[in-house]
Amino acid sequence: MPRAVRIAPSILSADFARLGAELRAVTDAGADLIHVDVMDGHFVPNITIGPGVVRALKPHSPLPFDVHLMIAPVDPFIPDFASAGADIVTVHAEAGPHLHRSLALIREQGCKAGVSLNPSTPAAAVAPVLDAVDLVLVMSVNPGFGGQSFIESQLDKLGALRRMIDGSGRDIALEIDGGINPETGRRAAKAGADILVAGTAAFAGGERAYAENILRLRGDA
Ligand code: DX5
Ligand code: ZN
Repeated sequence: MPRAVRIAPSILSADFARLGAELRAVTDAGADLIHVDVMDGHFVPNITIGPGVVRALKPHSPLPFDVHLMIAPVDPFIPDFASAGADIVTVHAEAGPHLHRSLALIREQGCKAGVSLNPSTPAAAVAPVLDAVDLVLVMSVNPGFGGQSFIESQLDKLGALRRMIDGSGRDIALEIDGGINPETGRRAAKAGADILVAGTAAFAGGERAYAENILRLRGDA
């Protein structure tokens, strides 16, 4: 029996002029989480949104807000995103020297803590912080932009992390982000992913296509 995957549309691919309506549409279309990509022009070569936008969007969807912080330094901003309404806050293992401290700070703020790995960071980087995380996010593109191609080598890493998580007996979600479409999503789910993040594939075709997009990402259509 294949694992039931959850779908997290990345609002990076939504219409930024109509974000509230886009959140409502994707929620009605059957999404499981709202993935929010936060970029600072320093850790990644792009700038997106800050806590003020998260706070403004929160009333537009009852789904958990899955906030992916691609920023460095990250610690000074964690309380802001938590109070803005983030349910899961994910930081990059590469974003600073004190990953364990960042993860502890996220939980202190009452959020679930996630750790994300760039494509070149090995699965082993997660082992020392397994007791401090609720979610592991594998980047299957180099973070910074939507619409990039899936990096195949990340499937093996996903498998290694699946085994690590299962071996730990802990309740930790395994998420993949970047270049996910129905085909790469199916392979990622097979390799052990619980949550598929999709920007381009979720928001393609405008509002009327969202439900079908999500069904196809889930492997149900
Ligand atoms: C990339 C972001 C992703 C991005 C995915 O840095 O973390 O969440 O929005 O976009 P697609 O699905 O188009 O690759
Ligand atoms: Zn992301």
